[in-house]
Parts: sequence; C-alpha cells; structure tokens
Amino acid sequence: MDYQEKTVLLKNGKTCVIRRGEERDAEALLNYLKVTAEETRNLTREPEDVDWTLEEERELIREKNDADDVLNLLAFVDGRHAGNCAFNPADDGSRLRHRCSIGIVLYQEFWGMGIGTALLSEVLASAKAAGYEQAELEVVSTNTAAIGLYQKLGFEAVGTMPRAVKYKDGTYADLLLMVKRL
Ligand SMILES: CC(C)(COP(=O)(O)OP(=O)(O)OC[C@H]1O[C@@H](n2cnc3c(N)ncnc32)[C@H](O)[C@@H]1OP(=O)(O)O)[C@@H](O)C(=O)NCCC(=O)NCCS
Repeated sequence: MDYQEKTVLLKNGKTCVIRRGEERDAEALLNYLKVTAEETRNLTREPEDVDWTLEEERELIREKNDADDVLNLLAFVDGRHAGNCAFNPADDGSRLRHRCSIGIVLYQEFWGMGIGTALLSEVLASAKAAGYEQAELEVVSTNTAAIGLYQKLGFEAVGTMPRAVKYKDGTYADLLLMVKRL
C-alpha cells in the first residue's frame, strides 16, 4: 500500500519520521526482527525463526508494497530505525476480509518515547482507509506497556488463550485477544 511519509513530534521534543518499508530497508529489517526477538519475551518468535535470506526479504517488501490490504510502517528517530507497526489481513476467506491483524515492535532503547502511539495511530488510520472495519491483535497477558498503548488507542480485551506461548525454558504465557472497531 502507498503511504505518504510523515514527521511527528515526540514527547521528548525529538522528531520521528514515519514511512513505508522499502527494498533498501531489507538488511535493517532482518536485523530488527532478530534483535527485537532477543530483547523481549513479549514476542512470539525466537531470533533463529528469522531464517530467510536478504533477497527473500526484498521480495516480501515488494509484495507488501504492491498489495492493497497490507502496510508496514517504519519509524526513524535521529535517522536511526526505531521500530515498525503493520497491518495484514487477519485471515484468509472472503467472509473475513473486514478484519485486519496488527503488529508493533520497537527496539528497546526507543520504548516509552511516544513512538508506539504515533506509529499505531498512523497504522489504524491507514487500515480504516484501506476498508478494514476491525483491528485485532494478540498480546502476552503480562505485557502491561503494550496493553496500556492498545487501551489508550481504543482496543478492548475480548478473551484469553491460555498457554498460547511456550518458551525455550519450558514456561508458558497466555495471550490476550484485543479488538478495536475502526
Ligand atoms: C509496546 C510498545 C510498542 C509501546 O510503544 P511505546 O512507544 O513504548 O509506547 P508509548 O510511549 O507511545 O506509550 C503509549 C502508552 O502505553 C502505555 N505504556 C507505555 N510504556 C508503559 C510502561 N512501561 N508501563 C505501563 N504502561 C506503559 C501508556 O499507557 C502509554 O500512554 P502515555 O504515554 O499516555 O502514558 C513498545 O514498548 C515495544 O515495542 N515493546 C516491545 C515489543 C512489544 O511488546 N510489542 C507488542 C507485542 S503485542
């Protein structure tokens, strides 16, 4: 999907540039997926799950940019990649096309600056403009920072999947399902 680049002011006075991911970002995006998976237990992937090549990542970016129901936005602060937020179709099937699934992850050093609020607000507005009626996400039930962000932007918790995530150390986490009408 197309997206017009924007610059927003953060609560610490810095500016944040928000733009669509492009093929030139492929290497940074692979690094981001691996590093952020290492930084937090609140994601569902391990770093080694990111096992596709640079060329495959470029192809994925091309496909997303050509699609009219997908958007991956990147945030940059002081020219550095801070994180991403995206929407994708929630599932296959023409009866499910009104629902999109949301994902958001920032590098740890950029948490708490208001980037999440800025990125997710842009993604929700773009998802509505793309025709989606409902935005959905799953969040580890103890992830208070993310749940606070989602509630602030109008998401409501509608249920919990117990033991949805299993970590390498054998422990589990529940996933909270949250929904927002667009
Ligand atoms: C969750 C995440 C995206 C939030 O982005 P962020 O830029 O840190 O959030 P913001 O600074 O915009 O804060 C938005 C709201 O979230 C809540 N919040 C943020 N950090 C919080 C914290 N440490 N404790 C409690 N609430 C918090 C607050 O309600 C805050 O609103 P306020 O600024 O009006 O007080 C970010 O912390 C992150 O990438 N975390 C790791 C990956 C992750 O957990 N992703 C979600 C997977 S479902």
